[in-house]
Amino acid sequence: MALTAPIPTSLNERVAAAVLQGLSARPRSLPPWLFYDVEGSHLFEQITQLPEYYLTRTERAILTAHAPAIVAQAAQGARLRIAELGAGSADKTRLLLAAASERQGTVVYEPVDVSASALALAARRIEQEMPAVAVAPRVMDYTHRLTLDPLLPGERWLVLYIGSSIGNFDPAEAAHLLARVRAALQPGDSLLLGVDRVKDTATLLAAYDDAAGVTAAFNRNLLVRLNRELAANFRPEAFAHRAIWNAAASRIEMHLESLARHTVRIGALDLTLEFAQGERIHTENSYKYHPGQAEALLTHAGFRPEGVWTDSSAWFSVLLARAV
Ligand code: AVI
Repeated sequence: MALTAPIPTSLNERVAAAVLQGLSARPRSLPPWLFYDVEGSHLFEQITQLPEYYLTRTERAILTAHAPAIVAQAAQGARLRIAELGAGSADKTRLLLAAASERQGTVVYEPVDVSASALALAARRIEQEMPAVAVAPRVMDYTHRLTLDPLLPGERWLVLYIGSSIGNFDPAEAAHLLARVRAALQPGDSLLLGVDRVKDTATLLAAYDDAAGVTAAFNRNLLVRLNRELAANFRPEAFAHRAIWNAAASRIEMHLESLARHTVRIGALDLTLEFAQGERIHTENSYKYHPGQAEALLTHAGFRPEGVWTDSSAWFSVLLARAV
């Protein structure tokens, strides 16, 4: 048996299992949740401010214009309790919390995330800036399990899943996720879903391959993470960032493409990988929705779509769907 490098004490079993599975398979892949270590989260924050990455500012403009109407429609006279899948989309979430607290005086906000530290940070920020909001963070991997607190009489849930996060799941996974959300709700509760729309290819590609190279750094940071956490010896500069529009699947794909034939060792997994020139690691899918597709997905999961708000170019949509 080959001698293995000492396993780092901080070895995260989930990371190890995902990397072993994804890089042993052909074509090779890595799951996109691996992007979000401290540096990756920081790079993603920078991506959201790039001129090419229209998603964040477009969704923010929609919510700036329509948050009071969205909240009123979700509430229908009840008091809202707001849950969010993910640790809070910063200023966009705040627009909805402000509209709800304006309407009902105070609001309970329950962000749900697998990362306790990301939740703590989000909770501190919101509580400092919005005294009318009581934050009750829930540490949970909502992609596997979702339960929400029981409501008081006269309350309804509004679950936020904004930021095009659903776009990082393929259609079957997205359907499962929405069904899981529906199962956590009662009839009359609602879900606010943010989806990115199919548009001209140049705009889509630029959003995932920006001139400043921030998305390329975000993609390559995966390899930096594997070097640190799994005692690997990837040379990130030996891989090119590739963003591809796959029209048939309606998705942007991100890949890391080996620039030359070379060998990589992942010590903690006792794994040696031979990369051919041009061989790719598929790191992310970002699905873009045609009109009516998100509505069909929501209906199939047990929701009734009740409202859709879109920017003037129809680049991004925010949908409100009622649990039936
Ligand atoms: C988090 N998610 C919605 C982003 C997206 O657009 O798919 C992640 C991202 N990947 C590259 N740029 C941004």
